[in-house]
Amino acid sequence: MSTPRDEPIRFGIVGCGVVAPTHAVALDGIVEAKLIAVADASRNRAETFAKEFRVPRVYNDYRELLQDPEIDAVTICTPHHLHAPIAIAAAQHGKHVLVEKPMATSLEDADRMIAACERAGVRLGVVFQHRFDPAVRYVKRLVEEGDLGRIALASVYVKWFRTQDYYDPDSWRGKWATAGGGALINQAIHAIDVLLWIMGDVERLSGYYDALVHAIEVEDTAVASLRFVSGALGVVEASTTTYPQTPERIEIAGSRGTVAIAGEEIVRHELAGRGADIPDIHAGDPRFRGKSYYGASHPRLVEDFVHALLEGRPPLVDGHQGRRVLEVIFGIYESCRTGREVVLRPKGEGGSW
Ligand SMILES: NC(=O)c1ccc[n+]([C@@H]2O[C@H](COP(=O)([O-])OP(=O)(O)OC[C@H]3O[C@@H](n4cnc5c(N)ncnc54)[C@H](O)[C@@H]3O)[C@@H](O)[C@H]2O)c1
Repeated sequence: MSTPRDEPIRFGIVGCGVVAPTHAVALDGIVEAKLIAVADASRNRAETFAKEFRVPRVYNDYRELLQDPEIDAVTICTPHHLHAPIAIAAAQHGKHVLVEKPMATSLEDADRMIAACERAGVRLGVVFQHRFDPAVRYVKRLVEEGDLGRIALASVYVKWFRTQDYYDPDSWRGKWATAGGGALINQAIHAIDVLLWIMGDVERLSGYYDALVHAIEVEDTAVASLRFVSGALGVVEASTTTYPQTPERIEIAGSRGTVAIAGEEIVRHELAGRGADIPDIHAGDPRFRGKSYYGASHPRLVEDFVHALLEGRPPLVDGHQGRRVLEVIFGIYESCRTGREVVLRPKGEGGSW
């Protein structure tokens, strides 16, 4: 599966909307990669994007881009429901696949994507860039090394704000069929992914959701309570209804210490016998370009994907990792719909990652 070569790995981006420039800038900063093509269902959008980022090849139909033999890998930046069909088609054309979050709108689609990439011998990566945030890595290490003692509570709070315009009736957002859900699968998914990466699997959960402020089908507000396989408990708060928007917060509290990350910064760091000084961890990346809440780590994740291709190893966030957070989010949706607790891993089964 490795791609030993002197030439850069040639990428195509499918979907030239809001997030796509972040990928173009990331690729531009990686010497071993080159963006050579873009595709968008809107020709105008594809052409404008290609002009801005000096991309030589422009396609209106992603299937034409996939037939381009010069392209080694694609980055999928389309609405959620298109991730699976485009990724599977890309794999069938022998292209490596980097797909934006959430990787799919159902676990079945996620499984089909993983299987298609394995069958074709191509790599599958999922964009959870916050795993590369220095603050997240620092806290993960603290937990792994036992510095917080026995972890009792591990929670995420995503109190964001979106106007009704964001859910324009013509948009794919705000609909089950095209977005797969709302505040959980579109916004809080990053923080939940980080929580799982640090804390390991969830054993069981229960949740509530509603559309409290926006006129949309999907949830704009949700809460869930979690029990991890480790025995720790936690909560998820997710919303696009709370003004003013505050940075998403991840808080982990154990018998010997408490840490909290807000956005990309460590904002609380109190360890027994070691005081409450906040460590000096810089989040910034000069290659960053995008909205502040995307963070600075897209370039780090794309670089890991490129190096994974060159080194013949899976990327840090591969398809299996991308699926894990979906299992929890779809579990919360199931609990919200049925009013029942959902057991993801019967006691004694499963572990951490
Ligand atoms: N990682 C992050 O921080 C982050 C941030 C924002 C968005 N995202 C994700 O990126 C993806 C795209 O989000 P966005 O905000 O850029 O959406 P968007 O609506 O702004 O852009 C989507 C683009 O896809 C194009 N498109 C639609 N159907 C297509 C098709 N069949 N073929 C080719 N192009 C097609 C649209 O014309 C549009 O230009 C989503 O999965 C979203 O969740 C991730």
